[in-house]
Amino acid sequence: MSDTQRKILVTSALPYANGPIHLGHLVEYIQTDIWVRFQKQRGHQCTYVCADDAHGTPIMLKADQMGINPQALIDQVSQEHQRDFAGFMVGFDNYYSTHSDENREFSSLIYTRLRDKGHIARKTITQAYDPEKEMFLPDRFVKGECPKCGAADQYGDSCEKCGATYSPVELKNAYSAVSGAKPIEKESEHYFFKLGDFEAFLRDWVDNHVQEQMIHKLNEWFESGLQNWDISRDAPYWGFEIPDAPGKYFYVWLDAPIGYMASFKNWCVKNDVDFDEYWNADSTTELYHFIGKDIAYFHTLFWPALLEGSGFRKPNGVFCHGFLTVDGQKMSKSRGTFIMAETYLNHLRPEYLRYYFAAKLGSGIDDIDLNLEDFRMRVNADLVNKVVNIASRCAGFIRKLSGGQLSSQLPDNNLYAEAVTAGDKIAQAYESREYSRAMREIMAIADKANQYIDGAEPWVLAKQAGQEQAVQDCCSLGINLFRVICTYLTPVLPQISEEVKVFLNVEDMQWDSIQTPLLDHTINKFKPLMQRVEADTITKMTEESRETLAAIASPAATQQDSELSKEPVADTITFDEFAKVDLRIAKIVKAEHVEGAKKLLQLTLDIGGETRNVFAGIKSAYAPEQLEGKLTVMVANLAPRKMKFGMSEGMVLAAGPGGSDLWILEPHEGAQPGMRIK
Ligand code: MSP
Ligand code: ZN
Repeated sequence: MSDTQRKILVTSALPYANGPIHLGHLVEYIQTDIWVRFQKQRGHQCTYVCADDAHGTPIMLKADQMGINPQALIDQVSQEHQRDFAGFMVGFDNYYSTHSDENREFSSLIYTRLRDKGHIARKTITQAYDPEKEMFLPDRFVKGECPKCGAADQYGDSCEKCGATYSPVELKNAYSAVSGAKPIEKESEHYFFKLGDFEAFLRDWVDNHVQEQMIHKLNEWFESGLQNWDISRDAPYWGFEIPDAPGKYFYVWLDAPIGYMASFKNWCVKNDVDFDEYWNADSTTELYHFIGKDIAYFHTLFWPALLEGSGFRKPNGVFCHGFLTVDGQKMSKSRGTFIMAETYLNHLRPEYLRYYFAAKLGSGIDDIDLNLEDFRMRVNADLVNKVVNIASRCAGFIRKLSGGQLSSQLPDNNLYAEAVTAGDKIAQAYESREYSRAMREIMAIADKANQYIDGAEPWVLAKQAGQEQAVQDCCSLGINLFRVICTYLTPVLPQISEEVKVFLNVEDMQWDSIQTPLLDHTINKFKPLMQRVEADTITKMTEESRETLAAIASPAATQQDSELSKEPVADTITFDEFAKVDLRIAKIVKAEHVEGAKKLLQLTLDIGGETRNVFAGIKSAYAPEQLEGKLTVMVANLAPRKMKFGMSEGMVLAAGPGGSDLWILEPHEGAQPGMRIK
């Protein structure tokens, strides 16, 4: 190892606990995980923590809608998130929740310290209030007509049509997105963190701790002035109550980054590690946060200021990345490119995506594009045709000639040395998050290895008498180069690396182990490590995405705090809502006119042993006698409704635009009264 052992704590942003993990998120978690695995492989003590961001209004309201309590929602989502992260081999040392005792304690501690030093101000403000739901409404939950251009159904903070920004009270014909009620204005006292107190500190701090591209953005923020930050919310709110302010809660973004500390603390206790060594103001350990550019303000201004004001250490770096686009456009539900982690994993190996992201990621904040055709070609060309090919070309000969024993010396020591030396450049690229450069360097070694084998032509030599040693030597070098390449790819392809370890019969895949080549060493039988990605598989994945998304609640409610809206709320119902509808085949056993009704017929329906009385508006299309004996689809669990003519116990479904153009089912084999429709 080239440098002494470092102690490093790494975080990724804490995903909101009200939506599924999608490929956009994974840019970040894969980027971070590669960096962490690289540090561990280099022998450093690197700890990677994360958690679900479990507080806030959207989570509270979503739980409400689902008829469960927030705790049940966040427990369920946490399971799903952890399953998806594990599926993509994101190897957290600890995955926690911001709704934890540790986080409550740290949030209170930080708040109290700030308050005692005079960094908290109080002010009464006026806000939109939902009189029906009896709650204050975040900007995103007030909708109405844009005060500038008049566009309907715009959010309370900005207009998607004309881009205007405004406050919710300016909206015309405003309504609450929660209850539909007209919001009123109501006063309440709020607690503010005086960010301006830290301007000098921040101006100095940002220079050495954020990327070049972000510094420009930060300078803009400094220019426009650092405003006091509202850190309190009124009950009802799902979060932590402020210690000296009953009925007031910490705004979710106050306790969210503190969740990094809380998750680490939780890990420290389990692993007997000294928390203070990492978090005291004079700590010599390293701390890095990986985040998306949409949440930079929170991490490069609020967060270091909170830490400075409460006497904790500051991060050594906040690393922002750009946003994921798919096929050059924002992820789209209708195109099937809003791909969830789970959907991807139903079709493809996680490591293909890890490699593709690595091949595209630099250290900057530019957006990265997942072009699905390019993805397929890249994985096939680089991983299958270049890397795995080296082993599959050499392994068979070694097996046949010497029962798996590699030669006692290499036929070209320079070629091996060159590959090992390239490790320094590659390590530097990983360290500075220039993964695309690292991947290029690694593929260059793979090209050289393949060229070497092409030139040596072991398959030709193998047919000549007395060339056994030459074949074995050539293939031994091939296998050794393969080992070097796979060692460099280990942070990106952890599972494949494990399989290579077994194939090569080696103890570990640590960075420095390749200093010594494998000589006189027996390797195991080679098994194909990877399959090509077929175009068909990609199509199936996007098709499944399109289908599942029609059924899944929009994650848009998580966007309340984001500068960028990621996907608009679609007019859909959730799968759970759909699943509640009990559709049955019903046989019309009797149909009669209803006295005094112009459109209705009274139907007696048989749904398999049970009879229902239903009034249906299909008189315009069918005479009663035409209906008897026919089948229809009915909503069997619709709440009974009292109508002028009697009780209706369900609803029948017919196809068509209405009037005389309505059709119900003809009886045919297979459909039986009472059958469920799925
Ligand atoms: N809960 C906050 C973070 C709190 S950190 C103390 C949040 N959650 S999120 O679920 O919306 O996003 C989690 C991370 O994923 C963020 O860093 C965000 O930038 C990133 N991404 C979410 N969608 C993304 C893309 N489409 N592309 C790339 N990264 C994206 O923000
Ligand atoms: Zn507008």
